Amino acid sequence: MTPGPAEEFLRPTWNGVDDYFADRLLSPDPVLAAVLDANRAAGLPAIDVSPLQGRMLTVLALATGSRRVLELGTLGGYSTVCLARGVADRHAARVVTCEFSPHHAEVAAANFARAGLAHLIDLHVGPAAATLDRLIAARTDPFDLIFIDADKPAYPGYLLQCLKLSRPGTLVIADNVVRRGEVVDAASPDESVKGVRRFTDLLAAQPGVVSTAIQTVGAKGYDGFALATVVRPPSP
Ligand code: SAH
Ligand code: DHB
Ligand code: MG
Repeated sequence: MTPGPAEEFLRPTWNGVDDYFADRLLSPDPVLAAVLDANRAAGLPAIDVSPLQGRMLTVLALATGSRRVLELGTLGGYSTVCLARGVADRHAARVVTCEFSPHHAEVAAANFARAGLAHLIDLHVGPAAATLDRLIAARTDPFDLIFIDADKPAYPGYLLQCLKLSRPGTLVIADNVVRRGEVVDAASPDESVKGVRRFTDLLAAQPGVVSTAIQTVGAKGYDGFALATVVRPPSP
């Protein structure tokens, strides 16, 4: 996706505002800096959540009193560390994170160890859909917070699986649902756009789920999150 003219013009402002808030609200963070260094050294794509977005995940995990977190799409574990920090002080805290790429997972595992958080995190390597099926079949305790950030074409399927792993009050967060505004293009041939559009329609069709979406700009350009809370999980 190439940036549009508005994005080209506004990006310095977006980045400046991200820097402004990051300078004031985020302390120097050697752990997250080490994660990004390790990711770069291993050649992982720099598509982690931004520092302020990562802090948003920590804030939401803390504010919801979450103990059990599920993440789809680990990459090098930047977002995983942010989520783990939000549950770390709680009894029976657990972060289950799913990653398809063995290489990404290996980098993430080393990052968790360096961060001193490995004891809280279960990293499942393989297609997330298969891991979720296993968790559903095993009647795993429901999750309090779920962060969907893996392959976008599969978001609709992930939503249905995640609802089966939810309880009333579970918060579901999905990344990258705006895609520089391309989400509004019903004729888009882009599989990721088609995936988030189907995801949105499916979210809207869930009687027991209250949902919203928020557009974001900043260090990651123009994108956004969907946020939903489960009032009534689907009956099995
Ligand atoms: N949440 C991370 C970024 C994730 S990037 C962060 O913010 O730090 C998306 C990740 O999803 C990539 O690592 C990619 O390998 C992984 N992925 C892609 N398809 C997947 C699948 N089918 N199952 C699990 N993970 C997948
Ligand atoms: C991509 C994936 C992400 O999760 C993200 O936040 C940004 C980009 C990607 O696959 O390009
Ligand atoms: Mg993402």
